[in-house]
Amino acid sequence: MSHVTPIRFAPTDLDAMAGAEGRVAVLLTPEGKMDPAARRANRLTRGALARLAEAESFAKAESGTVISLGWPAGMAAEALDVVVVDRKADADVLRRAGAKLAASMNGKALSLFAGNQRRAERLAEGIALRAYAFDAHKTGDKDAGAPGAVTLMHSRHEEIEAAAAPLLAVAEGVHMTRDLVNEPANVLTTTEFAARLEAMRELGLEVEVLDEDQLAELGMRTLLSVGQGSDSPSKVVVMQWKGGEADAAPLALVGKGVVFDAGGISLKPAAGMEDMTMDMGGAGVVAGTMCALARRKAKANVVGLVGLVENMPSGRASRPGDVVRSMKGDTVEIINTDAEGRLVLCDVMWYAQERFKPAGMVDLATLTGAIIIGLGHEKAGVFSNDDAFCGAFLKAAEATGEGAWRMPLGKAYDDMLKSRIADMKNVGGRPAGSITAAQFLARFVKDETPWIHLDIAGVALVKEGTELAPKGATGWGVRALDRLVRQRYEAE
Ligand code: BES
Ligand code: MN
Ligand code: ZN
Repeated sequence: MSHVTPIRFAPTDLDAMAGAEGRVAVLLTPEGKMDPAARRANRLTRGALARLAEAESFAKAESGTVISLGWPAGMAAEALDVVVVDRKADADVLRRAGAKLAASMNGKALSLFAGNQRRAERLAEGIALRAYAFDAHKTGDKDAGAPGAVTLMHSRHEEIEAAAAPLLAVAEGVHMTRDLVNEPANVLTTTEFAARLEAMRELGLEVEVLDEDQLAELGMRTLLSVGQGSDSPSKVVVMQWKGGEADAAPLALVGKGVVFDAGGISLKPAAGMEDMTMDMGGAGVVAGTMCALARRKAKANVVGLVGLVENMPSGRASRPGDVVRSMKGDTVEIINTDAEGRLVLCDVMWYAQERFKPAGMVDLATLTGAIIIGLGHEKAGVFSNDDAFCGAFLKAAEATGEGAWRMPLGKAYDDMLKSRIADMKNVGGRPAGSITAAQFLARFVKDETPWIHLDIAGVALVKEGTELAPKGATGWGVRALDRLVRQRYEAE
């Protein structure tokens, strides 16, 4: 598993500042105004903070900047981190400042003297999100960026701990998603994935695992066709969180969980194929979101469904030209076995609607390379049949700083899926590849279901660290979905 640091909340102890090891962090306004902790640090360092505040460069420092003073005289710490925050600093600025502190820890302890309650909560959230390293498979030197112990000090530390708890619960959900997405495919097989989801029963989730016989019984032949070339058995896992009114229709979250996408008989080129261990990113976000909702005991009904398969070439694999029947009953001509995500999702989405009659459905998938061409690694593609539902999601994503951009749907794109011999084909050609993929899914959405499709191929994994995540899996979407649930399904 990953290396995650729990944050300890403790009463402010200014007397301990001089002897604190590792790093010490204090807050300072852009005008150089000091709180008692900053004043203490200033006194210990014989005026270092005051000199910093007078420096010309400091006047230009933006709110949220962290300035590190190395080996401060008069202190045992190896660095004094000065966090510049103005009075107006919002959640986003504070979260990013916290993340900067976490990013520079290098395995050392951090003692943060945290200012007022609102600031302390958001700084803690930022630290928690960034203080993550996936070093499960390193035997020697652990990741140099791994976080050390964090102590957040405040006079009302118990109140702050309680207030920060839901934020830290969601950060744990983000970490769960990252763990799943970072894990290689020989470790995270379909069976192992299902086992990790079953372990979430401990959090109060109801978890069911459907095996291949049950999926065949249900008629999920498009999903099964994807996994039939692999030695790992296909599975669908259903996770239910019942925190709302007993009769309230749930929100359904559906995730693509292709534990490895070799492309099948339409084999992918060798270069970069190793990245296809992350092709279960949609299922990873669904799992992490369910984890977050259960940990913070959300007052809403949410059901998460993931289709777990492996797309491999073999003598048993499906071929280009095969025709398969979906659970809905529509037939699909498989033109390209590498367009497998939609074949998995269409059956799980249909099952979700038939069984749960959801109030809304969001599917997440690392579905197309084309979305990376369109939006890069900055924003996920958003497709929807419902302006109000879509608007609520986009607002939530904006608030959590998770990039998202709405894309169009329409009949002309749907027409590109016409097949000569079946009801539809599984690819629509190169133009508008992400849209025709979404259009394929739209055929499996009932008129009465408000639906959002999130193509997260570009945002699930990054080659360079971002402000809130080290390089690798980001956990994109967990916080936005959690916020969507909070705003739209939890009546307080
Ligand atoms: N898993 C891939 C999409 C993908 C590509 C995710 C790059 C992350 C990074 C998906 O199954 C796929 O292979 N899509 C094809 C579709 C094509 C065959 C119509 C693609 O995008 O090339
Ligand atoms: Mn593929
Ligand atoms: Zn795929």
